[in-house]
Amino acid sequence: MSLSDDLDRIRADARAALAAATDSGQVEGLRHDLLGRSGRLTALLRQLGEVPADERPALGRLANEVRAEIEAGVRERQAALSVDDLEERLASETIDMSAPGRPVPIGHLHPVQTLMRDLRETFHAFGFEVFEGPEIETDEYNFELLNIPADHPARDLWDTLFVAEPGSVEAGEPKPARDGTILRTHTSPVQLRAMLALDAPIRVLAPGRCFRYEAVDASHGSEFFQLEGLVVDRDTSLADLKGMLEEIARALYGRDVRTRFRPGYYPFTEPSVAFDIGCLVCGGVGCPACKRSGWMTILGAGMVHPTVLRNGGFDPAEYQGYAFGMGPDRMAMLRHGIGDIRLFFSADTRFSSQFAEGR
Ligand code: DAH
Repeated sequence: MSLSDDLDRIRADARAALAAATDSGQVEGLRHDLLGRSGRLTALLRQLGEVPADERPALGRLANEVRAEIEAGVRERQAALSVDDLEERLASETIDMSAPGRPVPIGHLHPVQTLMRDLRETFHAFGFEVFEGPEIETDEYNFELLNIPADHPARDLWDTLFVAEPGSVEAGEPKPARDGTILRTHTSPVQLRAMLALDAPIRVLAPGRCFRYEAVDASHGSEFFQLEGLVVDRDTSLADLKGMLEEIARALYGRDVRTRFRPGYYPFTEPSVAFDIGCLVCGGVGCPACKRSGWMTILGAGMVHPTVLRNGGFDPAEYQGYAFGMGPDRMAMLRHGIGDIRLFFSADTRFSSQFAEGR
């Protein structure tokens, strides 16, 4: 059998094998078998030296032709197969552009913050603007200037957390700081900060965190929020206070809400009142939520005491004012039917994520 026949057979075999190959591994194997160091074509080319000189050029040309054809065929087939691979991969990775996106978890306001925001918006319509004071206060602002002297029995209403005198804790004998620094027990000290900073007429809202040394239970936390309001102007009366609070109650709880004022006592207001709304849980019949009274107290209020006005730099003969303080935690509990105030500070998202309306 002649070398030329062998070459023809290798060419035919290569063509058939290339056409039949289904993955690039097979094509590579074929290249190795034919063109590799000990491949069939390589072995055949080595025999060229033994061929009679006159036949050599023609055979050499044929051999080169076959090698070039196989090399080109291998390249082409590899390229075609890799396109197939790519198409297969693309098909398996198809993206459905019409599918809804994956939801991205975004945060929301805490239910107490949502309630305070709603209150702020309602009060904003009455011309109130926000004025904030510090959470770490002094005895002077938290008590003295609010007409609560050091030995006044009313101080028992505000169980106070004191900031320790530097060094006293380390010495094993904690003492209240000599400069009177405490954690504010209510937002009322902001009344004084506002009066001393602003000119009349004053209409401010002071939202913020307060702290008390409490026996913590389902309705008392040692950390809670208050929303304080203060109006100082000429000719402000208790009637203005009543009218405004009734409007606020209607805005928050609906036109049909029932309201009432009761006498109250606070050293910084005279007269002082408590403002109640008809129980939202039982509608006024009496239930555990309203302690069977049919009413729920939502805030304390009153006409600013003349001493407090004077402490704030206003002459009580010329100016009057009213103030009120509400508890947003309790109001949020009422709004959502939450039974335990401690949940608000639990930092448990299983609780807070139920109130996602506060975006
Ligand atoms: N500061 C009072 C408290 O913590 C609440 C309060 C009552 C605020 C009457 C006022 C007010 O501004 O007029 O119990």
